[in-house]
Amino acid sequence: MAEIFSPVDIGSIHLETPIMNGAGPVKLPEHVLEIARSDAGAIVLGSITIEERFGNAGVVYARGKDDIYSLNSKGLPNGGLFYYRDKLPELVSIAHDHGKPLIVSIAGFSPEEYARLSDVVINSGVDGQELNLGCPNVWGKDGKQKRIASFDEDLTGETLRQVEQAVGPDAWTAVKLSPFSDPIALQSIANILSQSRLVTAVTSTNTFPNAFSFNEEDSPAIDPGGGLSGLAGKALKPIGIGQVRQLRSVLPSAIAIIGVGGISNSQDVFDYLRAGADATQITTAYINFGSQVFRRARGNG
Ligand SMILES: Cc1cc2nc3c(=O)[nH]c(=O)nc-3n(C[C@H](O)[C@H](O)[C@H](O)COP(=O)(O)O)c2cc1C
Repeated sequence: MAEIFSPVDIGSIHLETPIMNGAGPVKLPEHVLEIARSDAGAIVLGSITIEERFGNAGVVYARGKDDIYSLNSKGLPNGGLFYYRDKLPELVSIAHDHGKPLIVSIAGFSPEEYARLSDVVINSGVDGQELNLGCPNVWGKDGKQKRIASFDEDLTGETLRQVEQAVGPDAWTAVKLSPFSDPIALQSIANILSQSRLVTAVTSTNTFPNAFSFNEEDSPAIDPGGGLSGLAGKALKPIGIGQVRQLRSVLPSAIAIIGVGGISNSQDVFDYLRAGADATQITTAYINFGSQVFRRARGNG
């Protein structure tokens, strides 16, 4: 195929093309196999949590008119750490047999949980981990929304410290953030990330928290959380690129940036790369259009 984008190395991970799936839709061996067979440069599995989670109930994903955005409130469904501890060697083999690295996204509910997850994941032979510090869609039994970790500098710093203690500073680690509307808060979190020896890359951005839309029956488009849900897809692209541009200006050059938000074709990838991203991820367009999106993003089809 005619390649537009050059291969890139992010720390110890080599990407034949700077495009991979974003965390969320890839949870099972058949999902891993689908990305392995696609034109993506790497596979991102998860997010996975310690406990098995069934996710939120009811309508948890909605497509905006003309796919201008997606809303979701999945609530991190996944098989839990015991399931993945047994499955990861097989998933690593599937990825490596297809010449692709496997990155596992982990989501804890405390620094200790991130450290436990990280210990198992890194010692399973995966190529890297992505710490999901930006999930907005977790609601407690009390009906209250859980804190988004990347908006809490102390929590972020403590999580990085405990993960580094568990797996050492050389474990390939990306940190995924929620989008910041406050430029000073973005700079502060970038400082925390810069001070950690652990951080290989920053992934930006997770969904924009607590968006809301009505469906055609005039009800909330999404059931959990009274309809408040994470916005992604095309509408997120200028926000995501703005995050990447700001992060590139404040992070040291040794920390790579993985851009994500609203990518569905090669122009979108190009725009993220020229704003300062080293690689990119695609979630909504993969969910909506399947794994052929990676071929299109590489400039074919
Ligand atoms: C249905 C769905 C589930 C997601 N689940 C996760 C997740 O488990 N972990 C995570 O870090 N991000 C998750 N995300 C966020 C995406 O990986 C991505 O950061 C965001 O959707 C923006 O990219 P996009 O516009 O290509 O969708 C999810 C997004 C969607 C739409």
